[in-house]
Amino acid sequence: MMNQANKLQNLMSKTSKPHKGTHFVAITSGKGGVGKSTISANLGNILAKNGYKVGLFDADIGLANLDVLLNVRADKNLLHVLRSECSLEDVLIEVKENLWLIPGESGDEILKYDDKNIYERFLNQASVLDNLDFLIIDTGAGIGGNIQNFLEMADEVVVVTVPDPAAITDAYAMIKASSKTKENLLMLLNSVKNEDEALRVFGNIKKVAAVNIKHPLSLELLGFLSQSKDISSSIKKRTLFTDEDTNATDEFKALVSKLLYRLEQKVLDDASKKSFSNFFKKIIERF
Ligand SMILES: Nc1ncnc2c1ncn2[C@@H]1O[C@H](COP(=O)(O)OP(=O)(O)OP(=O)(O)O)[C@@H](O)[C@H]1O
Ligand SMILES: [Mg+2]
Repeated sequence: MMNQANKLQNLMSKTSKPHKGTHFVAITSGKGGVGKSTISANLGNILAKNGYKVGLFDADIGLANLDVLLNVRADKNLLHVLRSECSLEDVLIEVKENLWLIPGESGDEILKYDDKNIYERFLNQASVLDNLDFLIIDTGAGIGGNIQNFLEMADEVVVVTVPDPAAITDAYAMIKASSKTKENLLMLLNSVKNEDEALRVFGNIKKVAAVNIKHPLSLELLGFLSQSKDISSSIKKRTLFTDEDTNATDEFKALVSKLLYRLEQKVLDDASKKSFSNFFKKIIERF
């Protein structure tokens, strides 16, 4: 087990990459169980392997929480920090080199917390995380509460769906709700048979959105992930599928490259403003 001093030392130390502020990426969905946590954990893994400092913020109440997926034990979570029962450093878990987990208790409890004072207290500690290059937020499924605030603040929002009709309907509802505040949304088609199926489903959603959503919206396909035994078995083994060289890993790396390319294209007006503490400050301002 890493001791407290080491944990922060690694977070504060410089990497080979220039720090350009923190990129916020939210992984969300309409329906549950479509692969958000799998995608969040593996996105974090690939970015960490590439030398970025990555925080994974688990705001999900799903069946397999990120701590389970990452095979670490989270005794305390962000809710304890918000309630001032411990510090943010106490709940941070260094999963592996460059990858930290910020455990959350449940989307219901944390993302729906709307007590300004509580967040303000938390903010004093948040600068610990300002060195992160990426913060990946696993939002949990569904619309509501503070979730839309988090989505609005994120640089990229990735809506995950699988190609079954119920999931597609819920993904569309999520896109419609998010389009009120967000002009750019990305989609990830998970558990598809092949790329054709991903393109077809995405094409249909895009068509319906173009007809029915009145707000200006750019909806893009980030990529797809085939249904794969390598992925489902990795969950059972509590390993990350991207630690192995498989077809699934190749597909996933392709979509991570696309995401990185997009983020690099974005002109950051002021990198120093793109920090974890500022992210929370802006969320608080919305209350
Ligand atoms: N491409 C895939 N191929 C095969 N199995 C997959 C794939 N993606 C996800 N799974 C499986 O689907 C299940 C649900 O995944 P996961 O827990 O990541 O979904 P989730 O959206 O986070 O769920 P929840 O809404 O409950 O939090 C897991 O058992 C996972 O192994
Ligand atoms: Mg989940």
